Amino acid sequence: MSNQEQLATLVDAAVADFTAATEPAKLEDAKARYLGKDGSLTALLKGLGKLPPEERKTVGAEINRAKESIELALTTRRDALRNAQLETQLAAEALDVTLPGRGRMRGSLHPVTMSLERIEALFRSIGFAIADGPEIETDWHNFTALNTPDNHPARSMHDTFYVTGVDGKVQPDVLLRTHTSPVQIRAMLAHTERYKHLDTLPELRILCPGRVYRVDSDATHSPMFHQAEGLWVGENVSFADLKGVVTDFLRNFFESDDLKVRFRPSFFPFTEPSAEIDVAFMSGALEGRWLEIAGCGMVHPNVLRCGGFDPQKYTGFAFGMGPDRLTMLRYGVNDLRLFFESDLRFLKQFQ
Ligand code: PHE
Repeated sequence: MSNQEQLATLVDAAVADFTAATEPAKLEDAKARYLGKDGSLTALLKGLGKLPPEERKTVGAEINRAKESIELALTTRRDALRNAQLETQLAAEALDVTLPGRGRMRGSLHPVTMSLERIEALFRSIGFAIADGPEIETDWHNFTALNTPDNHPARSMHDTFYVTGVDGKVQPDVLLRTHTSPVQIRAMLAHTERYKHLDTLPELRILCPGRVYRVDSDATHSPMFHQAEGLWVGENVSFADLKGVVTDFLRNFFESDDLKVRFRPSFFPFTEPSAEIDVAFMSGALEGRWLEIAGCGMVHPNVLRCGGFDPQKYTGFAFGMGPDRLTMLRYGVNDLRLFFESDLRFLKQFQ
């Protein structure tokens, strides 16, 4: 075999070996067999020295050409393998950027919470502080201090949730508050204690929104519902102030001057005189119907005394309204229970 034929066979063998190598490591092994230190082509180059000087140049050039061919085949195969690897990786990590995003569910405030925040903001704007009290109350704060006699029907077992002690026995002195009025007592006591060093107490103006509980359940009553209690005590606070504050609040809350407010004589043990507050819209679906939305009155002297105020010097008004009812009216909802069933189809409509 001539020198040239021998080289051509070598190149063919190298190309075939490279093609057969299906992964980079195998390709590098094949490369070593030809171009490595002990490779067959390297051996040929080393053998050049033994040739007579006149042949050395031509044979050397032939070997170098063969070497170039092998190197070219090697880089071509290297690129091909690298591309193939990239392709598989890309395919494996494929990302369909045209798929719609999963997004994130957008939450929103409960409609009653929105009303409570609205009520708070409106009362804050006329100088009322937001007050708070426990939902598990003592009989004294919930009834006694509010001038409610022992035999009052609200105190009965089937109207009020009493708390059971660890011994399994009902504790007649601990109950779920039936209204937010006990917060009046707590706020008055804290206020009169804080300012007891003053000759004249500063005015007390609070609004207390919160949950209350009664043994009651139908389309317009839920065993848990909300109230917002208002209280304003000071010198010369009158029923006229009560009417002004409540009427102004309702017009702002419903964003309409097109409504009438009526104070209908009523009775509460803790106010004297007492009234129910009714509202009537002059337009819309409920046009002309009087709807009861709150109880109110001038704070009873016995209650002022329990709160540490001298009833000879101070007067005050209080009201307790139903934010659930206000929310129903504002959004035209006809069943109170819908608010507390956690049905997203209903709740989403208020987003
Ligand atoms: N606490 C009364 C109720 O729950 C409402 C009310 C509050 C009445 C304040 C007068 C003054 O029915």
